Amino acid sequence: MTVKTDVDALTPSHSAFAVENPMKRDDPASVLEPQAGVPGEAPMVRFVGVTKRYGALTVLDELDLDIGRNEKVAIIGPSGSGKSTLLRVLMTLDPLTGGMIEVDGEPLTHMRKNDELVPASPKHLRRVRSKIGMVFQSFNLFPHMTALANTIEAPMQVLGLSRKEATERARDLLSLVGLEDKCNHYPSQLSGGQQQRVAIARALAMRPKVMLFDEVTSALDPELCGEVLNVIRRLGSEHNLTMLMVTHQMGFAREFADRVCFFSQGKIIEQGPPQQFFSAPQHERTQQFLRAVKEAV
Ligand SMILES: Nc1ncnc2c1ncn2[C@@H]1O[C@H](COP(=O)(O)OP(=O)(O)OP(=O)(O)O)[C@@H](O)[C@H]1O
Ligand SMILES: [Mg+2]
Repeated sequence: MTVKTDVDALTPSHSAFAVENPMKRDDPASVLEPQAGVPGEAPMVRFVGVTKRYGALTVLDELDLDIGRNEKVAIIGPSGSGKSTLLRVLMTLDPLTGGMIEVDGEPLTHMRKNDELVPASPKHLRRVRSKIGMVFQSFNLFPHMTALANTIEAPMQVLGLSRKEATERARDLLSLVGLEDKCNHYPSQLSGGQQQRVAIARALAMRPKVMLFDEVTSALDPELCGEVLNVIRRLGSEHNLTMLMVTHQMGFAREFADRVCFFSQGKIIEQGPPQQFFSAPQHERTQQFLRAVKEAV
């Protein structure tokens, strides 16, 4: 694996939430696995002719989309246009009807066998999928486990980390999201924003290269929403992570994303850098959508 060059960017002094934490390890760069894009390398995520149907309904329609390494992509569009489905098929929560997905230069939904691509085995799926983390609108924490227990569970069960290693990693990440003092709280003892930040730490504990966020602030009131967006903003600016974010918050998409993709009926009908996308949308459907969003504010 190539090594990220701006390791210094991971020092906690850059962190809005950084506080002295005796549990923190000396090497903050190891909180997240370093990675970097090298010119000419394959995109981090590649959708090739991806189709998803539920019965007669085509939700993703022969979609081609490349996401670069460390690229931050905002996915916007009307309800029912296929945004969550896009993230769900990438997370392998739903099988594809057609096409294929590659992650980090290797097939995700397929594997090579005797020079042929065949549908991926469960083992192959698990291995490649471990490069991806996902955070949902409804935090999906285990209610009977503390923030710390929620965060160590998968690294121990799936990655085989010892309890000590997983706990060190979890404390670092809970600190990264500003919750070093809430490690022993249960979800019911945390605010919505705090629960969502635990969910982010839990996803990061698997050291993904790609993070998917599906309307992660929609269930939160504006103040708590700000806390979560700050964490995402910092993850984006201080760590090498590829991010796909479905959002209805146009302000955040504009400021955070490198590219905005507008979905309509399972297709990307317009995409571009936020500045250009929001100030001069070309497609009539995009203009109509942005007008409606503006009027709703
Ligand atoms: N498991 C399923 N079975 C049948 N239809 C489904 C299933 N999941 C999603 N759909 C349908 O697929 C379409 C796209 O759904 P999706 O959740 O991707 O939309 P979305 O763009 O995320 O919308 P929203 O902005 O409301 O979250 C919808 O018409 C939905 O009803
Ligand atoms: Mg959705």
